[in-house]
Amino acid sequence: MTKRIDGKAAALDVRRKVAEGVALFRDRIGRAPGLAVVLVGDDPASTVYVGSKGKATLEAGMESFTHRLPTETTQDELLQLVERLNDDPKVDGILVQLPLPDQIDEDAVLDAIDPAKDVDGFHILNAGKLAVGQQALVPCTPYGCLHLLKNELGDLSGKHALVIGRSNIVGKPMAQLLLAENATVTIAHSRTRDLPALARDADIVVAAVGRAEMVKGDWIKPGATVIDVGINRLPPEEGKTKGKLVGDVAYDEAADKAGAITPVPGGVGPMTIAMLLRNTLIAAHQREGLEAPAL
Ligand code: GUN
Repeated sequence: MTKRIDGKAAALDVRRKVAEGVALFRDRIGRAPGLAVVLVGDDPASTVYVGSKGKATLEAGMESFTHRLPTETTQDELLQLVERLNDDPKVDGILVQLPLPDQIDEDAVLDAIDPAKDVDGFHILNAGKLAVGQQALVPCTPYGCLHLLKNELGDLSGKHALVIGRSNIVGKPMAQLLLAENATVTIAHSRTRDLPALARDADIVVAAVGRAEMVKGDWIKPGATVIDVGINRLPPEEGKTKGKLVGDVAYDEAADKAGAITPVPGGVGPMTIAMLLRNTLIAAHQREGLEAPAL
């Protein structure tokens, strides 16, 4: 029987541990860790994500600072806000929600964030540290995927992991994290030849391409662990206003073959916010010169 990996339950467990860590931090330091989230524009999906992040931050007992800026915000205006947040002692973590409007250079903004407050792990210094195996703030979604994989499989050493997608947000850091766990890692992308054959050889498949149900059931090696990072909305069926949410994996087919698989929704999604809270707690400890809790 295939196991459906419950990301919601795993995320609640992490969030409970973070909340305990927050209470201890408050007792020692006399303030709560603070997370600032910046949203530029009114993209509906980003607006929902930012709302959920603010709510989860408060539920963990942290301070939440949400900055909503208009779509026409200039790069200079955004950089000025980032500078203010860098200098604000109450702010331990800064997240600028992506994507940003076209007039703003994303890299310039991400690299303006103080690396010690970079709870997204997107700053070039944190990405570089992860790549060379130094302690770093690690991107939340791949770290959440790794957490689910280790819960499921324990030791990943020697396993063949296929990461489909090479984005800076998921694919590349995911590959680095798996490599650090001594997995043998293949990164596939749009120019990869014979992806189904690569997948059939993989003990672990992490799909992060943003293409609805692209990974088919007959690509999956029997017993493999499948982590689906995709969130895609299908066109609405007749008579419905909203289409169904699906991942990058054809779930029913793949579940017939896999040993364990994450559903969409309720798999990887909830882990991203849990790891954002974890990163904020760790950043707060490091900024105060305290040893960060192991989470
Ligand atoms: N947009 C989609 N995923 C993410 C994320 O993990 N962090 C930020 N900042 N923006 C995103």
